[in-house]
Amino acid sequence: MSRSCDGLCIGGAARYGLLAVTIETIVSHMTTPPTSAKPYTIDEMISAKAIAARVESLAREISEHFADTEKLVVVGLLRGSFIFIADLVRELDLPVEVDFLEVSSYGNSTESSREVRILKDLRGEIEGRDLLVVEDIVDTGRTLSHVLDILGTRHPKRVEVCALLDKPSRREVEVKARWIGFEIPDRFVVGYGIDYAQRNRNLPHIGAVRFL
Ligand code: IMP
Ligand code: MG
Repeated sequence: MSRSCDGLCIGGAARYGLLAVTIETIVSHMTTPPTSAKPYTIDEMISAKAIAARVESLAREISEHFADTEKLVVVGLLRGSFIFIADLVRELDLPVEVDFLEVSSYGNSTESSREVRILKDLRGEIEGRDLLVVEDIVDTGRTLSHVLDILGTRHPKRVEVCALLDKPSRREVEVKARWIGFEIPDRFVVGYGIDYAQRNRNLPHIGAVRFL
């Protein structure tokens, strides 16, 4: 397939003249949003077409990288990666097993509660296996870093990470995904599986939340 990416490539989202970060963006990072949720609108940041084109090229690179694998265990981090993983695995030209891991997020809570707990563990054994961890967004990097620590204790053969979105300006912990779909500015985003207060996961594109 030769789907164009509408001129939007890695890092291209930053060129869309998006508004600077607001205090509301920071508030919206909380796991439990305020009960009196403020009205907001969603500005399209990455089109469905651009996502599809990028997923296709990521899958090509991943398939080449793991070409010699006996079987690749694709580990989706719930819930934000569910649409991304569904699209990505269908483009992988490899023998694949799909598994899911759900960990607690910490939102903007205090340092002491900044541990990541497993809410839903993998079903399969990963010792000696090739793993691809699929994440929706790498923000501070804390979730991914903890997940990699947890998975590392189970002695997989190889572990690589593919993240749909990366917000490098927010990083607090040094962690790197080998494959990144799009680098984005510090905006709170929704759609293509990603939520704000459990809403907007079903948007076909990625959009930035803007409070009215
Ligand atoms: P980190 O641990 O700070 O890297 O955050 C990782 C998780 O926070 C992501 O997997 C998302 O679930 C969530 N998150 C970070 N930024 C956003 C956003 O802009 N919209 C929705 N969820 C986000
Ligand atoms: Mg997540």
